[in-house]
Amino acid sequence: MGAHRTRQCSLLQLQPLRTCILFLLLLLLLLPCSASSSVITHLPGFHGRLRFYLETGYVSVDEETGTELFYYFVESERSPSTDPVILWLTGGPLCSGFTALVFEVGPMNFVLAPYNGSLPRLVNNQYSWTKIASIIFLDTPVGSGFSYARDPKGYNVGDISSSLQVVTFLKKWFNDHPSYLSNHFYVGGSSYAGKGYMVGSPLTDPKYDRNSIIPYAHGVGIISDQLYEAAVANCKGDYVNPTNEICANVLNAVDNSYRFYLLNIWMNDKATRDALKIKKGSGHAPISYKPKQGFAMGQRWLDRKPL
Ligand SMILES: *[C@@H]1O[C@H](CO)[C@@H](O)[C@H](O)[C@H]1NC(C)=O
Repeated sequence: MGAHRTRQCSLLQLQPLRTCILFLLLLLLLLPCSASSSVITHLPGFHGRLRFYLETGYVSVDEETGTELFYYFVESERSPSTDPVILWLTGGPLCSGFTALVFEVGPMNFVLAPYNGSLPRLVNNQYSWTKIASIIFLDTPVGSGFSYARDPKGYNVGDISSSLQVVTFLKKWFNDHPSYLSNHFYVGGSSYAGKGYMVGSPLTDPKYDRNSIIPYAHGVGIISDQLYEAAVANCKGDYVNPTNEICANVLNAVDNSYRFYLLNIWMNDKATRDALKIKKGSGHAPISYKPKQGFAMGQRWLDRKPL
């Protein structure tokens, strides 16, 4: 039980984590109040001053158990006053938000040199999404990364209670950072974070799922404007049980386009490419596998364009 569990976290199995947390706990006991934040200008392993604005801190989300969530806030390098603010969540449970900062959309990457006993080195990530948006990387649920609870009972959280703690976190964080209140706000994440807001092909309710296919397929550019407009005009919002022939034909045509979409995914999958003995495969996780394309996708997302 506790802050050092790393279950389901394949990326961050830090042994010194326990020591770090004990140290931070000690440090926090010496601090007069529970909310704290610091501006970080240098990091071990990174040469010179950081070229981005980094703030870290704790926000208390449950007084009774003394639960505090740790965050890394990286300000947009473009126009922080008008660029969106993203809350980025990482999975699986107990994986630190830092993994997203160095492996996914954040401003730094590890130098992938053979480990020689010295501290691993960090460099700038030229495809960081923080070039166009400010991002809060959050250690949640409590127990992941540097987030902790004074009372061991505090670690007993589930999907819903930890989500509510994230809401508390956001309210307090924005309260302490009022200049970002007017910016557009997004929630994004990877892996287990999809259980929250950005989700990958989940089943919710057959009626809503089926009826969402048309606007969704149009939104992400799978079907044409023409097909979408024909569906809207003829199906009267019911894409499950067509009441006239034109609507039925349109839905049929959508299903056909969708098949080509699936074909495209299959053909580009590494397993397929390996099986077909294609030279130099490509992955389906654009952010970590193809940072440049991932960055471009993030930009389209924030600009509200089809992905
Ligand atoms: C490991 O490699 C780095 C980079 O080349 C170097 O600065 C460091 O001194 C090396 N450490 C050891 C223990 O050899």
